[in-house]
Parts: sequence; structure tokens; C-alpha cells
Amino acid sequence: MRALLPSIFVVALSSMPPQAVAEEPAGWVLDSRATAQQLAGRLITELTQALAESPAAAIRVCSERAPAIAAEVSAATGATVGRTAARVRNPANAPTEWQQRGLEYFATQLAAGAEPASLEFTETLVVDGHTLRRWMKPVMTAPLCLTCHGAALAPEVAAAVGERYPADQATGFAVGDLRGAVFVAWDEAARP
Ligand code: HEC
Repeated sequence: MRALLPSIFVVALSSMPPQAVAEEPAGWVLDSRATAQQLAGRLITELTQALAESPAAAIRVCSERAPAIAAEVSAATGATVGRTAARVRNPANAPTEWQQRGLEYFATQLAAGAEPASLEFTETLVVDGHTLRRWMKPVMTAPLCLTCHGAALAPEVAAAVGERYPADQATGFAVGDLRGAVFVAWDEAARP
């Protein structure tokens, strides 16, 4: 009986498809997901409230609150959190070199038919003895986003956007398009 055990074990293992042995994500990946979720949750709450008032009010929320919320979540978590995109509204959100690579990875995967929710970009590197962690997740265009990022903006929305963002590139999106990404970057030494 005892001699049988190892062979049963081997049979069970070899019949498992490779996808079934998915690794438990590392702690820093779980922390990144939670941090991104905080940013997204707070943004969507404030955006939805402001949209109920007027799109112009919501643009104010986006332009004043989005950077402030990102700064608050960064301060509270020890990470650097924010949003970026290939085509940005605010030039301050333009992607860095690694964020550009993350965005290109998402675009390639989506074009090949990947599920947006399954996509995640991760990178670890050591610079001057510091372990740096980088994480990104795609942000897709939802119906709610079209008011301010769609192909046809209402005149008052276009005016409010044009006033604050004369170099705006973030229109012309359709539902399901890759709008951008949320990123989280850590110095491992500073991660709580
Ligand atoms: C009320 C108008 C409005 C709506 C609705 C809106 N956005 Fe934005 N969005 C903005 C503004 C304004 C900015 C620039 C914010 C800043 O200055 O950081 C922005 C910036 C962004 C950015 C950062 C990159 C960039 O272009 O500067 C992303 C990503 C983004 N929006 C995604 C979305 C998604 C996804 C939705 C729908 C869930 C959405 N937005 C809905 C107005 C809007």
C-alpha cells in the first residue's frame, strides 16, 4: 500500500494541465492590486457623484481630484500610484519608458484576443541596491467614459476640456477600447 502512494501522486500531478498550477501571486502584486483598487474606487465614486450634477462639474473633479486622490493613495500606501495612457488628456500623465512598454504589452495582448481582466504587467529590477517593483493593469473604456473621452463630446464638455487641456489627445474612444492603465510602483524597502 505504501509503495503505491508515490505513483498515485505522480499520476495526479501529470494529469494536471499547466494552467491549473497557477502560482499564488507575490505579496507585492496583491498589494499593487489593492492599491490600484483604492484609486479606482475613489475616482469612480467621486466621478459618478459629480456627473449627476453636470459634466462640467465632473471635469473639474477629474482635473482637480484625480491627481489629489492619486497623491493621497500614494502617501497612504508608500507606493507611487497613478494613471497613464498612450493618448493623454493631461500631459503630466504621459507614460514613462516602462509604462510605455506596459501599454504596448496590453495593446498587443488585447489585439490577440486576451480578456482585459486577465491582463497584468509586472516587472522587478534592482537599481543601486534598491529592489523596484512595477505593476500595471489596463483601464478599458466603459459607457460612462464616453461623455468625456468619446468621439462626439457635447459642446459644453468640449469647451470645459479645451479650457483646461489645450493639448488633449484623449477623445475618440469607443466602449471596449483600451483607454489607458493604472500603475503602481514600489521601492521594496518602503513597502509596508
Ligand atoms: C467628466 C469627464 C470625464 C469622464 C466621465 C471620464 N474622464 Fe477620464 N479624464 C478626464 C479628465 C479631465 C482627465 C485628466 C485628469 C488629470 O488632469 O489628471 C482624465 C484622465 C483620464 C486618464 C489618465 C490619462 C490622461 O488621459 O490624462 C485615464 C486613464 C482616464 N481618464 C480614463 C477614464 C475612464 C476609463 C473613464 C470611464 C470610467 C473616464 N476616464 C471618464 C475626464 C473624464
